[in-house]
Amino acid sequence: MALTIPKSLSMTMLISIFCIITSLTRINARKHPDFNLGDEKKTHLRLYFHHVGSGPDPTAVQIASAQSSANSPTKFGIVLMIDEPLTVGPDIRSMPVGRAEGIYGSASKDEVALVMAFNIVFDQGTYNGSTLALLGRNCIYSTGAREMPVVGGTGKFRFARGYDLLKTYSFNTTSGDAVVEHNVFIVHY
Ligand SMILES: *[C@@H]1O[C@H](CO)[C@@H](O)[C@H](O)[C@H]1NC(C)=O
Ligand SMILES: *[C@@H]1O[C@H](CO)[C@@H](O)[C@H](O)[C@H]1NC(C)=O
Repeated sequence: MALTIPKSLSMTMLISIFCIITSLTRINARKHPDFNLGDEKKTHLRLYFHHVGSGPDPTAVQIASAQSSANSPTKFGIVLMIDEPLTVGPDIRSMPVGRAEGIYGSASKDEVALVMAFNIVFDQGTYNGSTLALLGRNCIYSTGAREMPVVGGTGKFRFARGYDLLKTYSFNTTSGDAVVEHNVFIVHY
């Protein structure tokens, strides 16, 4: 079907329609107009986080708590600092990718929900030296979808935005140690 322009459309309206189409084309070209960053890219990363809360070399340590945290069923108010190794597979001996460094806090009085603010720091391969910044909510015992926003990045991940879908791969109820699978979907330059 041919595109017909109603006769009632004024020249001004035609010009503004043309401008809208022009700006849409610019977005579709996926080049950042100001920073000369090249083409926008989509990347999916699957990473395994190794959470070790016990033993002689923990990757997560409690740094603060409220007086009432001990009596809270959700440990509301405790804060952990984390530096967890990341690998390409669930086995800790699989290829290393980098580290997750950041802070987890128990932020809900009703369910175990963490506020997590951390950087994924790549120290291998193509992404060596680049980082991704994540900030979000994680209901660690939820069987449903757990999702956190990717809020930024550096190096190969400048202007990164996206989301991270997580699920617990394994959890040792005695030690509290866990392996968590993260699927990170990002758009970046
Ligand atoms: C990652 O980059 C650092 C700093 O440039 C360098 O020292 C290190 O050898 C690199 N590591 C790998 C595995 O390429
Ligand atoms: C779970 O943790 C306990 C205590 O650290 C340890 O003895 C046990 O071997 C672990 N289980 C598995 C399956 O790794």
